[in-house]
Amino acid sequence: MAERKLLLEHAHDPAYATLDGYLAKGGYAGLKKALAGERQAVIDEIKASGLRGRGGAGFPTWIKWNGITKDKKGPHYLICNADEGEPGTFKDKQLLEQTPFLLVEGMTIAAWATQSDRGYVYIRGEFVDAARALRKAIDQAYAAGYLGKNIQGSGMDFDLYIHLGAGSYECGEESALMSSLMGERGMPRLKFPHVPLPTVAGLWEKPTIINNVETYSCAPFILANGGEEYAKLGASTKNSRGTKLFSVSGHVNKPGNYEIEFGTTLMELLDMAGGMKGGALKACVPGGSSVPIINAEDCGRAVLAYEEMSEVKSMVGSGGCMFLNEHTCIVSFIWRTSLFYANESCGKCTPCREGTKWMEQILRRIVMGNGQPGDVETLKEICSQIDGRSFCGLGDAAAWPVAAALRVFPEEFEFYIKHGRSMVTSGESVAMAPAWQQAVLA
Ligand SMILES: Cc1cc2nc3c(=O)[nH]c(=O)nc-3n(C[C@H](O)[C@H](O)[C@H](O)COP(=O)(O)O)c2cc1C
Ligand code: SF4
Repeated sequence: MAERKLLLEHAHDPAYATLDGYLAKGGYAGLKKALAGERQAVIDEIKASGLRGRGGAGFPTWIKWNGITKDKKGPHYLICNADEGEPGTFKDKQLLEQTPFLLVEGMTIAAWATQSDRGYVYIRGEFVDAARALRKAIDQAYAAGYLGKNIQGSGMDFDLYIHLGAGSYECGEESALMSSLMGERGMPRLKFPHVPLPTVAGLWEKPTIINNVETYSCAPFILANGGEEYAKLGASTKNSRGTKLFSVSGHVNKPGNYEIEFGTTLMELLDMAGGMKGGALKACVPGGSSVPIINAEDCGRAVLAYEEMSEVKSMVGSGGCMFLNEHTCIVSFIWRTSLFYANESCGKCTPCREGTKWMEQILRRIVMGNGQPGDVETLKEICSQIDGRSFCGLGDAAAWPVAAALRVFPEEFEFYIKHGRSMVTSGESVAMAPAWQQAVLA
C-alpha cells in the first residue's frame, strides 16, 4: 500500500495553518454537521468510524466520549495530550505546526459532543514552534466566532487554552498530566477501579476527556464524511480503522512522518521512507521506544495494525518507528533507552524508581566492558519485577524494551559480557555516544 493522507493532505501548504486556507480546503464542514444535529449523533459517528486513541494505548475513542454524563451539573473539561515525549515519535509536533485547525476543530466537535466548557492543550515545553502555530490558529478561530461564546450562532460556548509543560516524559501519562495542569507535581494518581475514571472525576475532580493530538485531528474528517467512510480504511485488519501517522527514523534514507492506512505492512512503510541506509535491516522498534524490538524476520511479516502487531510480539504504540541497520549494537542501543527511562522515572513507586536505575547500571557496566556472569538473568528478573507491578505505565515502558532485546538478541548480550566488547561494533558504540551520555559513563 502507498501513503494515504487524510490528516497530512495539505500539511505542506503554509496557508492551511491559517483560517482562510483551512476554510478554502473544506475546513469546519465537520463542526457544521455536528452542530446541526444531536450531540449523541457525533458520538455515534465516532463509534461507526472505529477510531481508537492514537496516543499509544489504542482505546476506543467513542467509549470515552460516551462516558461523560449527559446530565450536566457543573463544568466539563477537555484535554489534548500534546506532550509527545516518547523517543522516536514526532507526529503531533507536525500536526500542531502545520495542521493546527484540525486539532482546534476536532476539539470543538468533541466539546459539543461532551458538553465541555473549556479545553486545554498540554504541549511539551520544547515545542515552541508548535505552540506558536496553535496560538495563531486559536486567535483566528476566536476572531471568526469558531471559539468563544455562541460558536457560529449555535448557542455553544467553548474556550480553548494552551498550557506549556516543562519537558517531563511522565507528564504525558494522563493522570500525571492532569496533576501538572492543576499546578501539582507531575506524578500519576490512583487509577480505576480504585478511583473513578477521568470521565467521572478528572481535572479538578470534574468530568474530563483526554485524547491525543492525532485522535482529535481525525474528528473533522469523520464528521464531514461519515464514520462508515472512515471505517472503510483499514477494513483488512481485525480492529484497526482509518489512517495512522508513523514517525520513521533511524537508518533510513527519507526519515519523516508517513500517514498510512492500517493494514499496510512494515516493509511497505520502510519503502516509503526510501529503504535502509548504510547496511541491511537488522531490527525495528515499530511504535516508540517503549515497544518491544523485533528482528528482520519479524519485520518481514509485520502488519501495521493494533492486534496484528501482537503476532510479532510488538505494538503500534505511538507510531515512533525506528529502523536499525546491521551495524547497530543492540546492547548499546538498549542501554541508551534504559538511561532515558531511568532519568524520567518520577520516583513515586519502588519497582520503577529502583528497577530502572539498576537496569541502567547493569547495562552500562556491560557496555563499558565490565559485564559479569549472571547479568542477563538479573536483568530478566528486574524486568519481571517492574512489569505490571509499577504504579503507572512508565514502569512497563521501561521494562519491555530490555526484556524484548534480551529475548530477541540474546547472543549479543552473551558475547558482550564474555568478551568485554560488542560483537557488532568492536566497542566504538560507546565512543560514538553523544557527549552527555559519555559524561554519564565517565
Ligand atoms: C509514561 C507515559 C507517557 C505517555 N505520554 C503520552 C504522550 O506524550 N502523548 C499521548 O498522547 N499519550 C501519552 N501517554 C498515554 C496517555 O496516558 C493517554 O493514554 C492518552 O493521552 C489518551 O489519549 P488517546 O486515547 O487519544 O490515545 C503516555 C502514557 C504513559 C504511561
Ligand atoms: S512507574 Fe512509578 S516511579 Fe515510575 S513514573 Fe510511574 S509512578 Fe513514577
